[in-house]
Amino acid sequence: MSDARPLAVAVAGLGTVGAEVVRLVRAAADLHAQRCGRRLEVVGVSARDRTKDRGVDLGGIDWYDDAVTLARSAPAEVIIELIGGSDGVARAVCHEAIAQGRHLVTANKALLAHHGAELVWAAEAKGVALGYEAAVAGGIPAVKGMREGLAANRLDRVVGILNGTCNFILTGMRESGRDFATELATAKARGYAEADPTMDIDGIDAAHKLVLLAQLAFNGAIAFDSVHVEGIRGLATTDIGYAEELGYRIKLLGIAERMGEGVCLRVHPCMVPRDLPISTVEGVLNAVVAYGHEVGEVMMVGQGAGAGPTASAVVADLLDIARGCRVPPLGAPVQCLAPLTHVPIADRQGAYYLRLMVLDRPGVIAEIAAHMRDQGISLEGFIQRARSPDVAVPVVMTTHETTESAMQAALGEIAALPVVLEAPVLIRIETLNHQ
Ligand code: HSE
Repeated sequence: MSDARPLAVAVAGLGTVGAEVVRLVRAAADLHAQRCGRRLEVVGVSARDRTKDRGVDLGGIDWYDDAVTLARSAPAEVIIELIGGSDGVARAVCHEAIAQGRHLVTANKALLAHHGAELVWAAEAKGVALGYEAAVAGGIPAVKGMREGLAANRLDRVVGILNGTCNFILTGMRESGRDFATELATAKARGYAEADPTMDIDGIDAAHKLVLLAQLAFNGAIAFDSVHVEGIRGLATTDIGYAEELGYRIKLLGIAERMGEGVCLRVHPCMVPRDLPISTVEGVLNAVVAYGHEVGEVMMVGQGAGAGPTASAVVADLLDIARGCRVPPLGAPVQCLAPLTHVPIADRQGAYYLRLMVLDRPGVIAEIAAHMRDQGISLEGFIQRARSPDVAVPVVMTTHETTESAMQAALGEIAALPVVLEAPVLIRIETLNHQ
């Protein structure tokens, strides 16, 4: 074993992940030292409440009441930011760490999605590492896999199940037939969903991660505001049932793809062919599928959240720093980053699932189909079983490939018809064929 001096690290934020990082660094010290030739040593920690029992031994570690002071003054080569939040203290800690010439490791996807470019530029200017493996899909080595394992490839598309809470809810709805609210309550009871689950169920958390993956795939900075984001809040079990009947499974996917000269990023519920590998990723698991021009399709699956998987990713970054590995955070040095043109979702081409609640009267379907025809949309399939002249009945249509703009135009006209009694449900069908 080398007698190189230990890599001193300091942890800002002692929630479940921060406490697990401290525990893991200590519990697996010999294994980690063998792998990188140096020991890791936690020399400082910072959190709000010093008296709280976190179930981890903090003996011999300096305590800092203020996280920015820790980033400025702790005798550490690496600052690990696990506070969270896209602004405020977390952002200040990250900037202070870099300004002090310390390496930075963070699990903060919101901060990186909104302000990553400024941190990457600062880190490269200072010659320090910026590790964020834990910010994308928890314990899955997605950042390293894409940035290093697939570095020889042109990447044209990356697709992911990037939020375990949503995947758990969708799996539960399908398996149990229970509605969204019931499955959300189950997710909360199991500790998967936060008390305020907005970031998860409205697709924002997945969009944060998608931005980070897309930057790696396309080697350019991407503005978070350019992502089209829809969550799963409005999904009905009825549509999950129809998806099964049609041979699909509904997943909340993040999709980033090159389109023409630009890139399009979107997060929304998708109908995915049931026999694709990604459709079999259920419960809280995450998946990342990258398409490389040389390697073909690569899929990584694993735990996207939780103390153990997230700490695993944090400590992997620490080991890279201890080994002396330095990789440009976005997979290309900042001066080589490509300008990326944003392509709006209106340019998407693909098939659609449409469910309408209509009055079952002669001519209704013809009227609806006429609006589709007028937008140049060709119908692929049609289901109507219930029969009732007085109450709304479901009518399900699937289309052949068309454009999002044509589909939205038709949808606007159809939604306004007096015989359409509820807001139409539109779900994009993603076959994920790679050309
Ligand atoms: N809340 C996220 C999820 C994990 O449910 O996947 C942290 O981003």
